Amino acid sequence: MLYDSLEQLQAACANCQKCGLCEKRRHVVFGVGNPNAQVMFVGEGPGEQEDLRGEPFVGPAGHLLDQYLAVIDLDRTQCYIANIVKCRPPGNRDPLPEEQEACLVYLREQVRLIRPQIMVCLGRIAAQKLMDPAFRVTRQHGQFVNKKGTLMMGTFHPAALLRNPGNKPDALLDFLALRDRLAQL
Ligand code: URA
Repeated sequence: MLYDSLEQLQAACANCQKCGLCEKRRHVVFGVGNPNAQVMFVGEGPGEQEDLRGEPFVGPAGHLLDQYLAVIDLDRTQCYIANIVKCRPPGNRDPLPEEQEACLVYLREQVRLIRPQIMVCLGRIAAQKLMDPAFRVTRQHGQFVNKKGTLMMGTFHPAALLRNPGNKPDALLDFLALRDRLAQL
């Protein structure tokens, strides 16, 4: 189904029962940011804090994401942030393929309505779902690929960077490359 606005789409998501994740969710985490954003970030799925507050990337990983955004002079009012699945997988497990597939209709609608010129996949789950099922973050991070007119790039998930801080310099280079691409638009 096609929606006329993000608000309409969000209202539909609020009642979603397309997969089992609806059973334990406290909030659907729809997405936040500028509906006219040039760049959209896509993570994996809500964690505990996000489920409690209904907003993506508000826990420790989100604080790190905000720092990377700040380095390239972006904040949440200038970009759009969403996830592959909009409801929290129990215990923060990876979203199952069928949960990702069920939820993708909503993300596709968000992309259609926002029309970002650049999409950044945060972590393996998003990059494998949106870019390439065989995507390897350690090998392919920071590489921009044109997919049907949208520039797509995968980088490290901020939660993974908290676990493996040794990858932070590479992640920083990816964000600097993003800044350069944004400047070229
Ligand atoms: N991790 C994600 O992938 N998304 C969030 O919104 C929070 C943590």
